[in-house]
Amino acid sequence: MIIAVDGPTASGKGTIAKALAAHYGLPHLDTGLLYRAVGRQVSLIGGDPDNAADALAGCDFPDALLSDPELRSEHIGGLASRVSIHPDVRQALYERQRSFATQPGGAVLDGRDIGTVIAPEAEVKLFVTASVAARAERRFREMQDRGGSATLEDIAANLRRRDERDSSRAAAPLIPAPNAYLIDTSALGRDEAIAAVIAVVEEVL
Ligand code: C5P
Repeated sequence: MIIAVDGPTASGKGTIAKALAAHYGLPHLDTGLLYRAVGRQVSLIGGDPDNAADALAGCDFPDALLSDPELRSEHIGGLASRVSIHPDVRQALYERQRSFATQPGGAVLDGRDIGTVIAPEAEVKLFVTASVAARAERRFREMQDRGGSATLEDIAANLRRRDERDSSRAAAPLIPAPNAYLIDTSALGRDEAIAAVIAVVEEVL
C-alpha cells in the first residue's frame, strides 16, 4: 500500500504522514528533506539556488547531510523552494523517491507531488491544507519553543511567498491529485487530525 500525503508547508502533513506510517507499520519518507538537502548543498558549494546548473550540482549531496538538524530551518526551506523549481533537480531526485514508494510492502511519502508525479498509482492520496493563519500560528509556536525571534507577521508573509512559488511553478506544482482526499486541519488538534486521516484510510482499504 502506498500512502501519498501532499500539502503546503506547516499544514500538518509531516505529522500526519509519520502517524500513518507508525499506525500501519510502513516506512516513511519526508521528501521535503531531499529538496532541503539540495538547497543546503548549493549554499555549501557557494552556488546560486536560482541557477539551474548550480541547483543540479547540489543534488550530489552526501547522505549524511540528511540528518543535519539545520535542514529544518526557515532559511533552508526557502532555498529548497527555490531549487525545487528546476525540472532537472526534480528529475535527479525522482528515482530515489520512486524506489522508496515502490518497495515491497508499501510506504508513506509526504511532499508536494507524491500523488501527482511520484506515485500516481497510490492507493490513498491525502491533500492536507490549513489556513495561512493557522499554519503561521503553528510555525510561530514551534519557533518560539526553539528560541527564534521571527514575528507572526514575518512567518505568515514567508508562508504566502513559499505557497505562491510552490503553486505557480511549471514543474510539478503544488495541486491536489484529482482523486485526493482534502483534509483541512485549521480547526483540528494533532490527535483529531490523525484520527480523521486514519478514518479516511480505513474507508479506502
Ligand atoms: O515540505 P518542506 O517544507 O520540507 O519542503 C521544502 C520545499 O521543498 C517546499 O517548499 C517545496 O518547494 C519543495 N518540495 C517539492 N516537492 C516535494 C517536497 C518538497 O518541491 N515533494
